[in-house]
Amino acid sequence: MNSKVTEIKNLFDAKISSVTTSDNVEELRVEFLGKKGHIAALMGELKNVPNEEKKEFGRVVNVLKQEIEQTISEKKDALIKEEQQKIIDSAEQYDESLPYDIQTGSYHPITLVSRDLERIFASMGFSIEDYSEIVDDYHCFEALNIPKHHPARDMQDTYYLSTENQLLKTHTSAAQNAIMKKYGAPLRAIFPGRCFRNESTDASHENTFFQMEGIMIDKDISISNLIYFMKTMLSEVFQKDVTVRLRPGFFPFVEPGFELDIKCLICGGDGCPSCKNSGWLELCPCGMIHPNVLRHGGIDPEEYTGFAFGLGLTRLAMMKYGVKDIRMFNSGSLKSLSQFKNE
Ligand code: PHE
Repeated sequence: MNSKVTEIKNLFDAKISSVTTSDNVEELRVEFLGKKGHIAALMGELKNVPNEEKKEFGRVVNVLKQEIEQTISEKKDALIKEEQQKIIDSAEQYDESLPYDIQTGSYHPITLVSRDLERIFASMGFSIEDYSEIVDDYHCFEALNIPKHHPARDMQDTYYLSTENQLLKTHTSAAQNAIMKKYGAPLRAIFPGRCFRNESTDASHENTFFQMEGIMIDKDISISNLIYFMKTMLSEVFQKDVTVRLRPGFFPFVEPGFELDIKCLICGGDGCPSCKNSGWLELCPCGMIHPNVLRHGGIDPEEYTGFAFGLGLTRLAMMKYGVKDIRMFNSGSLKSLSQFKNE
């Protein structure tokens, strides 16, 4: 009986030494180890083996089976490796010496300043909100205590859409009402956005510019809270002490209202076109939110007070990066715009 085992072993040795592909090896595996393969057939012979030889026969067949399994798996691995190497070798090689010039983009300076501020305010517990650029008369004016025919509207002429009541927002304050209604009090939020005004342009005026509005509403919020947040924010942004001054300012949606000016960082206060030769730059109008505005937003002014500020993001970017002409921001000139890096 053992001769049969030897016969199968020899057959396998002969066949395995001549295979050339991993597919051939797989065929051999089926031929020898498959359900109807040679090893299964040998096992089938067991019943014809005399009882006293059964044990030895079984052992020999098992040894052969294990040998075949091992050889097949080693051979298959080796051939697969060879085949993969062939594919790699034949693949088109790339030319390492080819010159390449990958142009990476850069952030717009407004984006850089905006992200800076978002980080600072987020660390002080403010959420960052988004709002549309097309708004209606109610949100831009009426909810902000600027009724129709109020003279304050003259300061903020804008572009009106032919759709009734729709206009391009003149200030980020236009989002105040919706955000108050969305979250209620207490509330801390900033909302950067693009604003539009119908005005002639010069070195410090644009018809399209960015602001960042901030509101904080809670019990017992006072002007000291406002001053604290403004000072913290400005010293973080400029990473140095900036000289600020607070002047009374009129905005119908705050009472009292202020203009927060910083000493011009371009001329150091001597006067230049960017600061209209005054040495100071209006940077952040602000004030305590008018009770009517809180009421429009569904917040009880008897219970809550709050402050609001409307930071000129574009102006801030001019100061931070020493940009002398506001028109550069919308110029689309990559030569100018790609030189800003976030330190
Ligand atoms: N929205 C005002 C403007 O653009 C600025 C402002 C915001 C003033 C918040 C006070 C409080 O002119």
